[in-house]
Parts: sequence; structure tokens; C-alpha cells
Amino acid sequence: MCGIIGVTGADDAREVLLEGLERLEYRGYDSAGIALVDADGISRIRIADGTHSVALLREPARALDRGQRAGIGHNRWATHGQPSERNAHPHVDCSGDIVLVHNGIVENYAELAAGLRQRGHEFRSDTDTEVFVHLIEEQMQQGSDLVSSLRNVLQKVRGTFGLGVMSIKDPELLVAARRVSPLVIGVSGEATYLASDIPAILEHTREIIALDDDQIAQLRPNSVVIETLEGEPITPRLRTIAWDVEAAQKGGFEDFMSKEIDEQPTAIADTLRGRIDGDGRIVLDQLDLSDEELRKITHVSVVACGSSFHAGLVAKYALEHWARLPVEVDIASEFRYRDPVLHDTSLVIGVSQSGETVDTLQALRQAASSGAKVIVVSNVVDSSMAREADGVLYTHAGPEIGVAATKTVVAQIVALELLGLRLAQVRGTLTPEEVATQVAALRAMPDIVADAITRNDDVQKVAEAVNDAKDFFFLGRHAGYPTALEGALKLKEISYLHAEGYPGGELKHGPLAVIEPGCVVVAVASSGPLQEKMLSNVAEVKARGATVILVVDDGDEEASAQGDFVLSVPPAPALLAPLKDIVALQQFAYHLARGRGLDVDRPRNLAKTVTVE
Ligand code: G6P
Repeated sequence: MCGIIGVTGADDAREVLLEGLERLEYRGYDSAGIALVDADGISRIRIADGTHSVALLREPARALDRGQRAGIGHNRWATHGQPSERNAHPHVDCSGDIVLVHNGIVENYAELAAGLRQRGHEFRSDTDTEVFVHLIEEQMQQGSDLVSSLRNVLQKVRGTFGLGVMSIKDPELLVAARRVSPLVIGVSGEATYLASDIPAILEHTREIIALDDDQIAQLRPNSVVIETLEGEPITPRLRTIAWDVEAAQKGGFEDFMSKEIDEQPTAIADTLRGRIDGDGRIVLDQLDLSDEELRKITHVSVVACGSSFHAGLVAKYALEHWARLPVEVDIASEFRYRDPVLHDTSLVIGVSQSGETVDTLQALRQAASSGAKVIVVSNVVDSSMAREADGVLYTHAGPEIGVAATKTVVAQIVALELLGLRLAQVRGTLTPEEVATQVAALRAMPDIVADAITRNDDVQKVAEAVNDAKDFFFLGRHAGYPTALEGALKLKEISYLHAEGYPGGELKHGPLAVIEPGCVVVAVASSGPLQEKMLSNVAEVKARGATVILVVDDGDEEASAQGDFVLSVPPAPALLAPLKDIVALQQFAYHLARGRGLDVDRPRNLAKTVTVE
């Protein structure tokens, strides 16, 4: 999510770091920092000024330069601790001799930090990352070198990491390690580079080694040694990158939308990470609502816009079923101008990937003034909504560049469903066994969604078969209804085709009058409580000549037989099914738009963040 750059052996390490951070800016970030390293010490500068941070580093960084040839830098996208200078990377240990940058999440950081504090370490940030430098410091004080120290520390850490670390004891050595968070190494013969993303180093070298999970690398100006975390040697695989910088920013994908569709399993896994403890308790530590307060809630109101509204609608089915609370879901621009009935036992949840959408922000302000508890589901740490709300539930989808939301939506559904399970837990509406079943089902979703993504070529064929159609109706029932709404929204946003989403049961109350040959009906008919009724709706549109595309679970021959075309998806429990059914509809919209030669990342007339009414 964040950006890492590192170098050893450069003529001008400062410039390599600053340019690298500029190349990583496209991902979005809130703060930045660099540290130059030589035997005399670590010179560090950090700035937290949103997307201006790298530009602002340039001037003060000049003063740090005394010809150092090595260093590390970082663009931060906050996950633990607000965006601020003190939380920006690189972080240093108490002695100031060790410096480190990190992408990922340390799940057990609270426990590790408590131990370190007891042993006298002084923390200078609110980040989970800082535990690494202090743990390495302890190891080095006992005589270990940097590599063995890091190896030992990684055994104590639960979570994900892509990290670069240096010490003034051996200032030419840059040590890197990876679990889940990507890292690449670039070699040029004179200098060796480290980055979280290829574009950061592409202007220096096209010879790249991708570090794999659970590997540790020792980078020196003209050598790279890679081992497993257990110390087994690895023969590095060098590949030559032919892409230009823009293609590299997309990681080899044609556009950001397809890259972000592909990142959905990680977005789900990262949003779940660290939120279910060993006893199966859902831990949402930034929610700031006690069990007592959660028990007092009598009604829930979700407010959101666009795709975030659809995530809220999916959550309604789950929250009502699991926590037995009445849940309303409102479009924020409607909520703020009516006179909603709220009291101090109401929980109002704003859902917004940006945390800045003006209608949602205003709706939450209004809710707060009526005494309701206000929480926010946001993908941006310390966004306006996050700052003002009583509590926050962050999604960890990473920055989303494509205007039409994809990975942030599935992350929002997961975050809201975790909240639903937490409410059910404290209110006793589900037994511990029932919660455990749901938790296991949620934990299986990254793999199921990854499986759904592999159907891309089949989805493309179906999209090509209906390329000439002008009218699309998306039907769904139960949690498949918001899925249908999201499918219709994705299609209209990026293909500019007429698309409407309806609950299947409403067909007879209007839409059926419009159905005629040439219309395409996409029906979400994956197995669920209302599948049979959905298929009756399908029969009605077929009888009127519509072309029918069915989203069905693998192996459901009976349902498949009723469609002209089928988008097969792996099965999942009904309340989680939107997470994988949405994937098929995202890909369907994507291929229709691409087939029409359109820019899927920047649809006409639309903006990523809408800060005007
Ligand atoms: C814009 C974006 C949508 C997004 C909506 C709500 O319309 O194009 O993708 O769903 O805003 O944004 P939010 O940041 O509040 O989730």
C-alpha cells in the first residue's frame, strides 16, 4: 500500500530516493520521508503534508547530503496512527543507529510494544512499524549482526511486511524482507536498489529480482544475497523489464481498474487481518464504543453514496440477521435533507472510501448533532469523516486509482460484516459457535474471490456476445439485490450504457413493460434463500424475448440451463456471496467498456472524490 525505495552504492543516494518516491506518488499517500546512511550516522527527514510531501522534502533534504551513497525512503498511506511527521517512516531505534521502512500490518504490535516499553524502549510514533526497530536494536545489543537480528525479530512478528532496514555499523548493507507486501530488487552492477513497486527504480535499471514471501535479502552495491527466513540460500531469478514507467505503475495490467479488481483478495485479507483474536473475538480497536454502548444500540442507520451505498445495503442483510437490529440504509444526500429520527441509542455508520464525500460528511455531522453515535468506514486514515466521527473502522484496501470503485467496495462489505459479528457477539444474538462459523466463512473469502477472478476470460466472451445491446437490467434478490445495483452502476459508469438494477420481485411493478427482444437481463442467481424465486423472474423476462445472463454457482446445471449465457462463480454463503458475485459483474462491465474503446479508469463526467454537492 505504501511505497518503499532504497539504494546502496549510488553516486547521489538522496536523488535516487526522492525520484523513487515521486515515481510512487501515483498510488496516493499522506506523508513521506527519507534517511541517508553512512558510518557517521543517519540523516533523516520526514514531512506529512498529503500529496505535497515528497515535493516539500526536496529543499530540506539538501542539507542532509554529505555524499552518502545509501539510504531508504517511504511514502506512507496510514494504517496505524494518523498521518503526521512523527508517524512517517523511516523510523529509528532508541540509539539512532538503526533505520527502517515498512509496508504491511503488524498484528501483534500492541503486545510487542508493551514488552519493549517495559524493557525501557522509548516509542516516538504511534505506528505498528516502530516495534521492528526496537526489537532489532535489542538483538544487535546482544551481538547479532543486522541480518540475524532481523531474522530473529521476524519470528516474533505476526502479520505482513515488506521492509528495508539499515544500520550505521555496516552502512553499505541494506537488508530487505518480505511477507505478502511486495518488494523488488534492482541491480545495475554499481548500485543496488530496493522498491515496493518497479516504477520507482526503472530509470536506474531494468534488471529486476522479485523477492518472494518469507525471503530475506542482503543488498550491497554490487551483490545481492537472498535466503529464506530459515537461512536456506535462494538463487535469484533476474528478469529484464520491457515496460515503460506508466505500464509499470499498472503492474503489467492494462489499466488500474483491472489491477484493482485483481487486488480484491488482498483487500479482503488485509481488512480482516488482526481483527479476530485467538479466542474468536472480533477486535475493532478504533471503534471506540464499549461493549456496554454496543448493547444499548436500538437502531442502525447507514449513510453513503454510490458504490459505498451498495456496500451498506449488503451489510443491512447481515446486520439484521446476525445482530437482530433494525437497519436503515440511506443515500447521504437524501438523509441530510430529511428529518431522520435519531436518538442517543442510534448508531449512524458513514460508509465512504475517501472519507471526504461532502453529502456523507454533512449527513454524519447532522447525525452527530442529534446525539447519535457516529462511526465511519473509511479507506483513508484521518480523512475528514474519520477525524470527526466517534469511532472508525478502516478498510485496508490500499489506494484506489480507478474512478469506479472496485476493491474498496468489497473491503467495505467485509468491515461492515465484521461489525455485524461484533454486535452479534456482545448482544448475544449469535452463539459463539455461530460466530465461529461466520468467521471461518469470512476467512475463506480471499481464496474464493481469487477463484472468481480467474473466470475473467469467460466473462469477456459473454460481454462480447452482447456487445451490441443498449439496455441492461440487473436483477437480484436478498443480498443479491445490492449486487445487482452495483453491477448496473459499474456498467453505466464505465461503458455509458443504459443499465438499471432492480430487486427481482419488483419486475412486475414496472420494468417488465420495457422488456423486449434486444434487452439484456443480468440476473444474480447464485444459490441462496431466494434462488428459486429469482429463476421465476428470469422465466418472465425470457418469455418476453430478453437475452438472459445468469450469475450462478459452479455446477448448478439446473439454474444454468435457464440462461442464454452464464457467468459461473464459486459458491459462498448467501450473506458473503456479494463479495464474489460482484467480481463477475465488475469484469462484465469492464469488458463491455473496453470493447467500446473507453477509458475504464477515467470515465467521462465522473470524479473519484465528490467534494461538492
Ligand atoms: C464517486 C465515485 C464512486 C464512489 C462514490 C462515493 O461517485 O466515483 O466510485 O462510490 O463517489 O465515494 P466515497 O469516497 O464516499 O465512497
